[in-house]
Amino acid sequence: MKTVFSGIQPSGLVHLGNLLGAINNWVKLSEENSKNYFCIVDLHSLTGLPNKDDLNKSIGDTLKVLIASGINLDNSVIYTQSKLQEHAYLSWILSNFCQVGELQRMTQFKEKSSSFGTHSGLLTYPILMASDILIHKANEVPVGDDQTQHLELTRNIAERFNSNYGEIFPIPEKSIGKSGARLMSLRHPENKMSKSSDDINGTIYFNDSKESILKKFKSSVTDSENIIKYDPELKPGISNLIEIYAAITDREIKDSEKEFQNLQYGEFKIAVAETVVDYLEPIKKKYEELTTNDIEDIVEKNLNLAQESAAKTIMEVEEALGIN
Ligand code: TYM
Repeated sequence: MKTVFSGIQPSGLVHLGNLLGAINNWVKLSEENSKNYFCIVDLHSLTGLPNKDDLNKSIGDTLKVLIASGINLDNSVIYTQSKLQEHAYLSWILSNFCQVGELQRMTQFKEKSSSFGTHSGLLTYPILMASDILIHKANEVPVGDDQTQHLELTRNIAERFNSNYGEIFPIPEKSIGKSGARLMSLRHPENKMSKSSDDINGTIYFNDSKESILKKFKSSVTDSENIIKYDPELKPGISNLIEIYAAITDREIKDSEKEFQNLQYGEFKIAVAETVVDYLEPIKKKYEELTTNDIEDIVEKNLNLAQESAAKTIMEVEEALGIN
């Protein structure tokens, strides 16, 4: 049976990019015959030096969104990274299988080190990510497009460990949905949709009201052609809206494009906005209904399962290294 791992940083509200680029695929995978681990990677968020109350709130909110998103908990384990110290332990071990130059070449390191200043957590971030994936011996990692480089590095680290100490880790594959892997800001479609965007009107948050979603889509940046066509380079705004629609409805980009070809931009924007409202509605409803008891039960049971799996891998790794 395959093992799936993926993670999300609790650094603000979950947005549509997280949902369509990653969490939606986690829900689909959880319907298959696999063992899944979905992790709130709070240790990764520390690289942004967050305020403690904000971080604490975000961890709880993100956990609730994951539970509310419809992930099948019969074969999926949802837990918080810092509660499993094996992540950080394995990260140290794996740092010996990764070159400093490789870390310095990571696009996200280059982008983030200029805005936060450069501390070594930002540099070694991808090693911790490799340890997240390898601690459960994952075969598949469903992520958005921006994580591709980190995944490649994880594969290299796993291969190097195996060639030195024996076949301990599977070499994990990235999996990406057929659309939605890189949603762009509604206001600046040349930039990725993100939690920390300068213009919050470009980001749809999971708990935005219907009015706010309609408003954000109505004011989304397009172009002056009034032709609905998928062409990310020349028509990034319109292409992004087609992408959002295709990802939610699970249709091909070509079919989605055709469906709207006779509409005016204004009508098209409203149609996509309404699709987003309908998609978010059940998640929001379930999120509101979750009680503290529901959450505590899930957290306790899931952490035990994650702990068991991590302890098993660490035992094998220690044995392979001769530190058992
Ligand atoms: P994070 O927290 O930035 O994002 C969580 C997931 O959402 C995807 N995503 C997007 N997909 C499409 N369009 C967007 N605009 C968009 N923005 C975010 C991300 O690709 C990701 O899949 N380093 C990771 C967290 C992490 C992780 C891991 C992921 C830590 N350890 C191990 C996988 C496996 C991150 O910062 O994701």
